[in-house]
This record gives sequence, C-alpha cells and structure tokens, in this order.
Amino acid sequence: MEIIIQPNPGVATSLAARLLGKTIREKPDAVLGLATGGTMEALYRQLVAAKLDWSGVTTFNLDEYVGLPPDHPQSYHHFMGENLFHHINMSPRSINIPDGLAASIPAECEAYERKLSATGGIDLQLLGIGTDGHIGFNEQSSSLASRNRIKTLTPQTRKDNARFFASEEQVPHHVITMGIGTILESRHCVMLAFGARKAKAIAGAVEGPITSMNPASALQNHPKVTVILDEAAAADLILKDYYRWVYEQKPDWQKI
Ligand code: F6R
Repeated sequence: MEIIIQPNPGVATSLAARLLGKTIREKPDAVLGLATGGTMEALYRQLVAAKLDWSGVTTFNLDEYVGLPPDHPQSYHHFMGENLFHHINMSPRSINIPDGLAASIPAECEAYERKLSATGGIDLQLLGIGTDGHIGFNEQSSSLASRNRIKTLTPQTRKDNARFFASEEQVPHHVITMGIGTILESRHCVMLAFGARKAKAIAGAVEGPITSMNPASALQNHPKVTVILDEAAAADLILKDYYRWVYEQKPDWQKI
C-alpha cells in the first residue's frame, strides 16, 4: 500500500483529482469504479472543474440503497447525477449503478457483476471508508471473498448516514454493494479518508491484521492500493513518519 498523508482534506482531494485526471487522459476508455458519500463530493467538484473528456469512460458505482427510486434525493443515482454525471460529457449508457428497485435483487447483483467483467474489469476503483472500516457497503464480518450482493447496514452506518436524511428512521436497512472480492479485482484501488472519526478505521485497515472486522484491511492483499489521507485520518498510524518520508523522497517519475 502507498500511504500519502496531506496537510488537509483540500490538498488531499486535489491530489486524488490529479490521479483520476491522469488515468482518464492516459486511458480515455478507462473503466472507473466510483463511490458516493461526503468524502467524494469535493473530489467530484474538482473533476467537473477539470473539464476532462469523459466520452470514452465507463463507470460502475459501488453501491445503492435498496428501495429508493433513482430520483429519491438520497439515492446514489441522484447523488451521482447531482455531483458528477449531469456536469460531464459521459454517455448515460456508460454509467452503471445498481438498481435498488430491481424485482429480483440477486438477479440484479449477478447481472451487474457479469456486465462488469464483460467490460474487462475496473482500472481504478475509488473508495471511501466507513468509521467501522467498511468499503462499499461491506460491513464488519463481510466475507473477504464476497461478490455483489444485498447487505444489511449496521446501526452505526445508519447513524453515520442519517446526516443525509431527514431522520435516522428514513435510512434504508438494505443496500446492494459490490463485494470485497469484486473490489479486489480492480487494477488500482484508491482510498480516501479525512477527519479524526476515520483514524481508527484507517489504522486498522493499513496496519492491523487482515480481518473481516475491518473490511478495508482486505486491501492489504491487493498489489496496488493508494491511500490518500489528511493528518487527522492518519493520526493513529504507527508508521506515519515513515509514510511521509517515503512520499517526500519519491522520484519525479513516481509522483502523481
Ligand atoms: C459509498 C461507499 C461508502 C462510503 C463510506 C464513507 O458509495 O461506498 O463506503 O465511502 O461510508 O462515507 P463518507 O465519505 O460519507 O464518510
């Protein structure tokens, strides 16, 4: 894993935006795995401002709430439209987000997985992390080999996400999410985490044992992971000085 610690979320987000921009410029038909949530909002704003050519890009979102229609203000369909897709030149045909209203959720999950492998897999997968270490909506105790499927949110995640809804009761209990096994097949995983409330989950994911009690720790088994943090999210890392030193000493050709 490459751990990059930046002074604040703004600088860290700019770095992530540069990395995404570089990927799209170098591979105009890139397949990107996208995430939602508060961490991604500023990143998508910067990507929109960068006026990249998205016409050849294909995207697959990590997850969606079960039971919310695409035009529901808290659905991830709506989030992605508002934050990114309505502002870039991507063809709607190249946008993939699980259908939370599918008549058969297992069939929807299988079809999503099939479509993803038919495109040749994800070049760059963006990830946030939950305060419990979840990636996508793979909650604690998720199988580290899991595929796309329905999951039940933990009380903690419903509490964390209640800030986007009028009340906690309105946060759905169920979601469709890419599995951890699916995420691990991406060629490059880029995880972003900002703020003190993510510090414990990040320390566990990066330096803890690989365990389903911190699903993001499965990324230790992936050959190419970039973790972009602000100081607050990096606070509990034992080797943070080492990570800083490594990043500062990088040769130019390795820099983002
Ligand atoms: C959402 C997703 C989640 C979030 C995580 C962090 O698509 O995959 O894993 O990335 O819950 O959310 P924020 O950024 O709101 O703290």
